[in-house]
Formats: sequence, C-alpha cells, structure tokens
Amino acid sequence: MQRYLTRWLDIPDLRRIEVYEAHGGYGALRKALFEMTPEQIINEVKNSNLRGRGGAAFPTGVKWSFIPKDSKKPVYVCCNADESEPGTFANRYELENDPHAIIEGILIACRAVGSHTCFVYMRGEFFTQKQIFETALGEARARGYVGADVMGSGFGVEITVHRGAGAYICGEETGLLESLEGKRAYPRNRPPFPAIQGAFGCPTVVNNIETLSNVPHIIARGAEWYKTMGPASSPGNKLFCLSGHINKPGLYELPMGFALKDLIYEVGGGILDGRKLKAVIPGGSSFPVFTAEEAVKVNMDFDSVRAAGSLMGTAGVMVMHDGTCMVEVLRTVAHFYHHESCGQCTPCREGTGWIEKLLIELEAGRGRTEDLQTLLSVATNMEGNTICVLADSLSMPVKSFIPKFRAEFEEHVRLGCCPFKEDGATPHATGGGDGVAQTPAAAPNRLSAQSTDTDAEADN
Ligand SMILES: Cc1cc2nc3c(=O)[nH]c(=O)nc-3n(C[C@H](O)[C@H](O)[C@H](O)COP(=O)(O)O)c2cc1C
Ligand code: SF4
Repeated sequence: MQRYLTRWLDIPDLRRIEVYEAHGGYGALRKALFEMTPEQIINEVKNSNLRGRGGAAFPTGVKWSFIPKDSKKPVYVCCNADESEPGTFANRYELENDPHAIIEGILIACRAVGSHTCFVYMRGEFFTQKQIFETALGEARARGYVGADVMGSGFGVEITVHRGAGAYICGEETGLLESLEGKRAYPRNRPPFPAIQGAFGCPTVVNNIETLSNVPHIIARGAEWYKTMGPASSPGNKLFCLSGHINKPGLYELPMGFALKDLIYEVGGGILDGRKLKAVIPGGSSFPVFTAEEAVKVNMDFDSVRAAGSLMGTAGVMVMHDGTCMVEVLRTVAHFYHHESCGQCTPCREGTGWIEKLLIELEAGRGRTEDLQTLLSVATNMEGNTICVLADSLSMPVKSFIPKFRAEFEEHVRLGCCPFKEDGATPHATGGGDGVAQTPAAAPNRLSAQSTDTDAEADN
C-alpha cells in the first residue's frame, strides 16, 4: 500500500518547507498555476472522485464547480480545521506533521475557484497545531507561495487563521461561517448554499483539512493514479481514527474499502484484554452503531458503510467490547449532543435534552419499558425537522442502539439497576443534575456480558 497522507512517518521533518519541497512539495501548485486552467483543475478533481472527508462525503470537484465563474463578489475558500466529532483525531496530526500539504491544497483550491482569500477556521484547543501551521505559513509566504503574487504567476492568495472557541457546532459549515463573521455560530437555513452566499454574503467553498490534503497528490499524479486506490465511487486513502477497546488505538492511513474486521483484528491488534467484540460506531458518534456481527462484514468506504445501514462520516471508528453498557454509551452520546445543540430549533433543543434525561433514568434503573418507545418517537420527530443535522446526529444513534440492543435496555428496567456495574451504581445524578450519584438497589440477577450479546442478537 502506498502511504501519501501520512508520509511524515517515513520522512522526518516533513513539516519544514525545505524537506517538503525536497519530496516534490509545491510541484502540484506550480503545475496548477502554469500548466492548467482553473477548469482543468476542477475537472481533474472531479474525475478523481475525491469525496469530502469532513463527514458528508460530497464530491469535492462538483462542489468547486458550483462557484459562479463570473462572480462580481469576492470568492472565499474556508478550510474547516474545527475537528470536533467525537472519536476523530486526523486533522490535528495533519496540522502537526504535514502543514504544507494543507497549504498547497488550499492554494490549488483557491486557483480552481478564483479565490484570493482563504480562512482557516481552527478549533480553539489546537494551540500547538496553530503554532506549527502558522510557522509553515510564514515559510510559504517567505518563499512567495502565499501573498500577492504566488510563484510570480500574478495570482494572489492570502491565508488567515481564525480560531474558534471550542464549540462543536462551529464545525458545521454554516455555523462556521457565522462564527467567522463574528456572530454566534447559529447554522443557516439552506438554500442559499455557501457556494452562492457563504462568508460575508459571497460565494464560498468550505472543505475539510483532509480533503484539501488529498488535492496536491491528485494534481501531481493525476486522477487515474488516485482511482487505483479504493473503490471507484469512493477512491483514495483515508485516515482512520481507531479508538475504544482496542489493543492498538491510533491513526491509520489505509485505502478506502478496507475491511473493518481487518482494521480491528489485524491493524488494531484485536480487542483489549482478549475480550469479545460487541459493537462498533464506524464514523464518529453521529451515526448508527453496528453489532459485532454486522461490523465484521463491512468494508470501510462511504457507499459500503451506507449500504450496511450506517455512515462512514469522519471514519472515527469506536470499538466496544462485551463489557460495555450500551445504555451508558448512548447516554454519553446524548449528553454530548444535548450540550452542543445551539438551541435554534425546538426539536433539537428540546429533543436532545429529553432523550438525555430518559437515558439517565434508564441507566440508573429508574426507567420504564415504555420509555424506549418514547425515545424512538422523540428521535424520529427530530429527524429532518431542523436547520442542520446535529439533531439527526443523535436521532441516528438512538434509532440503532435501541433496536439492536433492546434486551439490554429492558434489563436495566427489569433489574432496577445497571447490569454492567459491580454494585449497579451509575455515576450519574437524576435529571435534576445536582451532581449527586444515586445508587439503585443491587441487581439480584445480573446479566453476563455473554448473555447480553445473545439477547441482542436474537432481538435483531
Ligand atoms: C454538527 C456538525 C459538525 C461538523 N463538524 C465538522 C468539523 O469539525 N470539521 C469538518 O471538516 N466538517 C465538519 N462538519 C461537516 C461540515 O458541515 C462540511 O460538510 C465540511 O466541512 C465540508 O468539507 P468537505 O466537503 O471537505 O468534507 C460538521 C457538520 C455538522 C452537521
Ligand atoms: S439542529 Fe440543533 S444544532 Fe442544528 S441549528 Fe437546529 S438547534 Fe442548532
């Protein structure tokens, strides 16, 4: 397998411009400026079938082609460096280790869509990453690759880093644009889409860091080379963020379509403590969970994961072993989305909180069987009824966890406590949120992890 996104593992100091250049760096930019028209760049990226790595998997070349060619207004490129999806940690390594690939990708994107300004929207917690990125930016500026006259081509590009303050919703592209404009990051209704009315009312392309990092390689080696990796509809390599109950968690560059089973058992070294696999969330916490039986059959590319009933999102693969309480996991996920809801839409603002409250009660053994129906109904009513898809990001987990692990949810009700905790206690307070843990009665007949699995399978 050829490694191009994580070349830094083989090339020491790749973040320094002289090293980056010694390995072909900025050659793609030169080609894009002097040997290709903007249309040719867009067509090459279109032909490569590169799909956005920020979560939605939208074809990048197609997105660029939506920018009006004769815009009287300035055109902006925004590089989404907010990376807040739980279980996702690829962009931070790219910023730290290969900042020039991002800068080169940005410059080529700007050339393609006729933009002279790029804003890099970076999450507030990325202190080190920002320092490294800005050092690289300074190097590129000193070489004349960023500024009024890029490589003497007469085409100018300025790149500005804008730091966020750590809110998840700032990664949603229209929330990002509002925040960039100095406002609260309330996502916008679409249409109009950013390609027509984005930053400051002007045509704007928003792309993820990993998406942009692919671009110099596509321009340098061509779309046909790119399509030799992974399936035709979703080619290239992908950075997989492997976390959870796994022996070798970490960031792995692998071709799209890599078998999830091999990612877990070969690359990841298998399940922690020799335990049994119970479940996997394949793409960050926003998407439906796979049971162990489903997970071992899935190939990790956008279309295969979708066909198997989930979404690959950011490829934040979270692995859970048979000692995991699925009610606790779902409650944790619900807490995140409730906390991060911007509050604009009633179904999301109220629904995420309602779901979290019900799950706190269920986990503590104070829930009722009918709460499961309420959870499903609240989740269904949130879906597709809001300005952005944050509401769906909780709805989808709820609607997969409950049917796939229903026996486990019902067991919490039957026992009046959590079958996975030694004393049945949960670390969580009741809905009042006073921070005092309440210990339910000890469970008379705890489930073994093994029997939970079997019940869940039967329930499928
Ligand atoms: C709630 C929410 C949070 C998001 N957070 C991020 C993020 O941190 N980084 C990112 O690149 N995309 C994020 N996205 C996706 C962006 O809205 C957008 O689709 C992406 O930046 C487009 O880039 P791409 O086409 O290169 O993938 C988020 C979406 C939603 C709904
Ligand atoms: S769905 Fe939630 S996060 Fe998105 S705009 Fe509505 S309230 Fe805000």
